[in-house]
Amino acid sequence: MDRAKFILDEEDMPTSWYNILPDLPEPLPAVLHPGTGKPVTPDDLKPLFPMALIMQEFSPERYIEIPEEVQEIYRTWRPTILHRAHRLEKHLDTPAKIFYKYEGTSQAGSHKPNTAIAQAYYNKMEGIKRIATETGAGQWGSALAMGCMFFGIELKVYMVRISYDQKPYRRILMETWGAKCVPSPSPDTKAGRDMLAKDPDCTGSLGLAISEAVEDAVTREDTHYSLGSVLNHVLLHQTIIGEETRKQMEMADVYPDIIVGCIGGGSNFAGQFLPWIRDKISGKKPDMRIICVEPTACPTVTKGPYTYDFGDEAGLTPLLKMYTLGHDFMPPPVHAGGLRYHGMSPIICHLYNLGLIEARAEHQLATFEAGVTFARTEGIISAPEPCHDLKVAIDEALKCKESGEAKTILIAHSGHGHFDLAAYDEYLSGRMQDYEYPEEKVKDALTRLPKVSTT
Ligand SMILES: Cc1ncc(COP(=O)(O)O)c(C=O)c1O
Repeated sequence: MDRAKFILDEEDMPTSWYNILPDLPEPLPAVLHPGTGKPVTPDDLKPLFPMALIMQEFSPERYIEIPEEVQEIYRTWRPTILHRAHRLEKHLDTPAKIFYKYEGTSQAGSHKPNTAIAQAYYNKMEGIKRIATETGAGQWGSALAMGCMFFGIELKVYMVRISYDQKPYRRILMETWGAKCVPSPSPDTKAGRDMLAKDPDCTGSLGLAISEAVEDAVTREDTHYSLGSVLNHVLLHQTIIGEETRKQMEMADVYPDIIVGCIGGGSNFAGQFLPWIRDKISGKKPDMRIICVEPTACPTVTKGPYTYDFGDEAGLTPLLKMYTLGHDFMPPPVHAGGLRYHGMSPIICHLYNLGLIEARAEHQLATFEAGVTFARTEGIISAPEPCHDLKVAIDEALKCKESGEAKTILIAHSGHGHFDLAAYDEYLSGRMQDYEYPEEKVKDALTRLPKVSTT
């Protein structure tokens, strides 16, 4: 029998996260303080995060044990299934073996709870009563609303205005789990009020919503900030995905030749590929290819420069060395809301800069075409974000058809698209359009990057 699913028992769920930091061929560039330009210290981050997360951000330990309370909640939906896409393979008439690790079965519908549960737990352990965060299309906000609900923490979510207006269902999810959600820019913070004074119709950006949430956290004693992607500790928590997949691919007796995933801030894909890339770094699997996919509308890695920039619009966060479209980037209204961030995880940027991973930018129409092919073969309606992986996975499988190679392709599938059906409607009715972020806008944003001396 040709198996369609590889399922781990609850008791086989990994009990540690994998930390790439000690295995990097070169250390990560330092994170800099926005005021002094000097490397940040754990104390600088204390107003924002619990110390346990700050220590994870810089940890030299290869494995970090997942607390029992976090494991217990993980087990309400984990381990997730590794699927073999037999029907897609047949449709493409490819000799490639296509696998996808599907994170859409968490209660919130994506990979985001893997870190939301952990972050809520560590905040609870430090006595924090309230958290402030931002969300784009609502995946992160809803995941953290669920995490905070499990640990009895109050949550305020600043949701990018355009999504707040156009996509009410994730806001309702957040409210059902007990969170308070406001559109960003909001009148509740100085960053929000400043933007509203400049542009009362501003549709918002993730960078601006982060400024609001950070300001909220630093101006209140009882509140911390929480970020759903980009930072090292977030990627760390997501490695449960790849650690499970390694066990499942062993069950299937295969090893991936190609791993594909979409990148917004980088957390879901890094969660899948970091536990594999150590084999490439160590020389055990030098030919394994790891391909990150982003939208042509927000081509951070494929078009942005590799330089220091703020994580937010107002310039409140530490400076991260990353590929960036500039912290004042206002994203065009494409549907992959989770892929519209101006920056990128420093770990992903570092690995790309070292030539260990590849990056592609894909147009919206092509990604939805792939999403519909996937829905009409495997049955799953994917979120617009993982439709980007599907496009590249299908391209690679078709190359195998030409060359006759039976490569093993692993897709990091980050979530379902049940709240994104309006986007499918737009695609199916022919109203959807492509958008390519212009080169001149990238150049223009560079003139406003922070000046940093690293000597
Ligand atoms: C389903 C889904 N996939 C991917 C992403 C992109 O984020 P990241 O790159 O951190 O995984 C998001 C972000 O909201 C998302 O909701």
